[in-house]
Formats: sequence, structure tokens, C-alpha cells
Amino acid sequence: MKEPGAEPFLPQRPTLAKLRAAVDECRGCELWEHATQGVMGRGPASAELMLVGEQPGDREDLEGEPFVGPAGGLLDRALTDAGIDPEQVYRTNAVKHFRFSGTSGKRRIHQSPARRHVLACEPWLVTELELVEPAGVVLLGATAAEAVMGTSFRLSRSRGRVLDWPERVDGRGGKPEFVVATAHPAAVLRSRHRSEALAELVHDLRVAARALRQAS
Ligand code: URA
Ligand code: SF4
Repeated sequence: MKEPGAEPFLPQRPTLAKLRAAVDECRGCELWEHATQGVMGRGPASAELMLVGEQPGDREDLEGEPFVGPAGGLLDRALTDAGIDPEQVYRTNAVKHFRFSGTSGKRRIHQSPARRHVLACEPWLVTELELVEPAGVVLLGATAAEAVMGTSFRLSRSRGRVLDWPERVDGRGGKPEFVVATAHPAAVLRSRHRSEALAELVHDLRVAARALRQAS
């Protein structure tokens, strides 16, 4: 099924503040129905680095802020270890509403968004990119990586490398100078080899930090 997409719900003359208000009214796909609220990205409009995750998790859905749950805690730690100030980055997600299964009972089980949800939601991300104009973008996990790089992108093969921004994601204004894909912090938390997985994430974030210094 083709989703109507988020385009009609974008504010005119957008600002980050307007996006935050508008995302909650989006009906661009069906994910809004069971979610608590839409979760827009967060961070300084002047951020040099934008981090893109998958979708809000349980905590993010309840609080209305990205990366405030366990994955966000791990991400903060990894950023700090990589020499990046967590306060200076803009964090967002490929999809702005929480998708989950198992609505009965208390526990909501995360379910990855489908390609159609990612495509429906893309106008929000493109608008964030236009407003923040980051020099670099870090894609966290396969959903974000495929959302930006296309579905033939293989995270396992291409993570931790400085790549050119793809032509297909083209907003107005300047495009990012580089993009680095890496693991999702939630995958690090789930890993049976957590300290190695964390070290790999930190390694990839250092690659992005170095590229950022060269870009500016
Ligand atoms: N996982 C994500 O991809 N994004 C969040 O905001 C939280 C967890
Ligand atoms: Fe709109 Fe994205 Fe939410 Fe779907 S997930 S309703 S496209 S904001």
C-alpha cells in the first residue's frame, strides 16, 4: 500500500520549533494511530553533526523526545568517548512515530518500521536537513542507513567509512559534506559482545569526528 506521506503536513516556512508542533498532527502513514505522539529531532539548529536513528522507542514515545531511553544513554556515552559533545549534535530518527506490536498488556514490543513508513516520513528528515544544514551525518543502524543510502546499502560492508552524501536525498540548500553509517546503539545494548560492539561504535563515531574537523 502506498502511504500518502508527510508532505501535506509540513508547515509553511518551517523552523525547528514549527516542525516539533506539526509532527504530532501528521497522518502521512498509519503509525500515528497507536503511538502516543510524534517525536521530532532535538538539538541545536547550528549543529555540525546530525545523527539519524530508526524511530522513537518506548520512552521516547512517552516523553516526546528522541534518544532519552537506554539506547540514548549508551549513545551519549559513545559520543563522549569519541570526543564529541553530546549537547552539540542534532539527533533525529528516520521515522517519527513509534511502531510496536503487542498492544495488549503493558509491554510494547518494538517493531522496525517498514520501507513504506520510512518513505512516508522522509519529508520530515529532509526538512530537518535543510534547516540544520549539518556538515556531516551519522546513520545509526540499517533502517537509517537504508533510508538515506538506499536499500542496496549494506551496513556490515560499509560502516565506519566516510562516504559522500547520496544524490537521491536532495533538499534545498547545501547538502552534507559526508556521511558515516554505523551500528544502532540499541543493537550494541542487545549484543552478546557488548564491550566490543561499543568499541566499534565509538571507533565509527571517531571517524565522523575526524571528518568533521577536516570539513570545517
Ligand atoms: N532508538 C532510535 O532509533 N531512536 C530513538 O530516538 C530511540 C531509540
Ligand atoms: Fe507522519 Fe512519519 Fe508519523 Fe507516519 S510515522 S504519521 S509519516 S510522522
